[in-house]
Amino acid sequence: MPPPALVLGIETSCDETAAAVVDDARRIRANVVLSQLDDHRPYGGVVPEIAARAHVLHLDSLIERAMAEAGVPFSALSAVAATAGPGLIGGVMVGLTTAKALAAACGKPLIAVNHLEAHALTARLTDDVPFPYLLLLVSGGHCQLLRVEGVGRYRRLGTTLDDAIGEAFDKTAKLLGFGYPGGPAVEAAARDGDAARFAFSRPLIGRDNCNFSFAGLKTAVLHAVRGLEQGGGLNAQDRADIAASFQAAAGDVIVDRTRRALARMTGDAPPRLVVAGGVAANRYLRERLTALCAQRGSAFTAPPLALCTDNAAMVAWAGVERLALGLVDALDAPVRARWPLDPDAAAA
Ligand code: KG4
Ligand code: ZN
Repeated sequence: MPPPALVLGIETSCDETAAAVVDDARRIRANVVLSQLDDHRPYGGVVPEIAARAHVLHLDSLIERAMAEAGVPFSALSAVAATAGPGLIGGVMVGLTTAKALAAACGKPLIAVNHLEAHALTARLTDDVPFPYLLLLVSGGHCQLLRVEGVGRYRRLGTTLDDAIGEAFDKTAKLLGFGYPGGPAVEAAARDGDAARFAFSRPLIGRDNCNFSFAGLKTAVLHAVRGLEQGGGLNAQDRADIAASFQAAAGDVIVDRTRRALARMTGDAPPRLVVAGGVAANRYLRERLTALCAQRGSAFTAPPLALCTDNAAMVAWAGVERLALGLVDALDAPVRARWPLDPDAAAA
């Protein structure tokens, strides 16, 4: 038996510096993530220059730690994979250049991974799901519905016309004074809130397409906050009620759009829904999607929370999948700030 394929993955496209080692038997041998939250918190969001410098500072030692935890020497690797985009270009350059140096020094193939593909394929690492499936990708930068047909084969069914859903969570959190990052704080506050107190708009619901829009919802939250401020200020219950009402509206939009996309999937059996991206960590949204799939007889797969937010295990796994198909890259592989999964839908 040949030794298992073993891939080192590197992720530096946003504010997580991460390294992981994954094999083709779906074992995560090591998975280390260093969040830069404290570096960015004073600014209320990710500062690209600070992120890139922090990646430079920490990436080497994180890779060392991942290799030590995996208990393998560099010579045992089958390939080195790194996110090559889309993302904050300074950080992506740090990760991809480091991967190129390692690949060159160790004589291993390089795999330049699309960050969105890494999110898209995570459910195959964790749950061995077969192609095709409908992917709902919900993160700080993206909100898309894609038909995943195979590695490198994606059809976009819908996307956001303005903000990503993670941005809407983050902006709502900011308006409520929760700080950064907002998603988990809004989710926590919503647990004690009355979702029926504010009737926020549900953009695009009922339209005959699979697109999203969150800008109007964000403005509605702003008006609610301003209104309460003029009336003397917000107390904890007001904040919880706004968080719950926002989350319910966002959930309604997500469920309506996803229902439509499921109906557009062709095939004999009910299509499987897979959710990915940081917002997929939200338990309320998971419950809504679980209920939608139960209604329709669709299987539903949501990776564990830690593999929904940015991590390097998903990058290493995308590397494993690409390596198996011989999809390796030359050492002059470019970094790409924009890199849509469905090139036909790039302009929209
Ligand atoms: O995929 P990710 O880690 O980074 C990229 O955007 O690529 O996603 C980060 C986003 C942020 O907007 C964050 O607020 C959101 O995911 N997020 C959540 C939750 N956890 C993270 N949003 C809602 N509920 C959560 N529990
Ligand atoms: Zn991401």
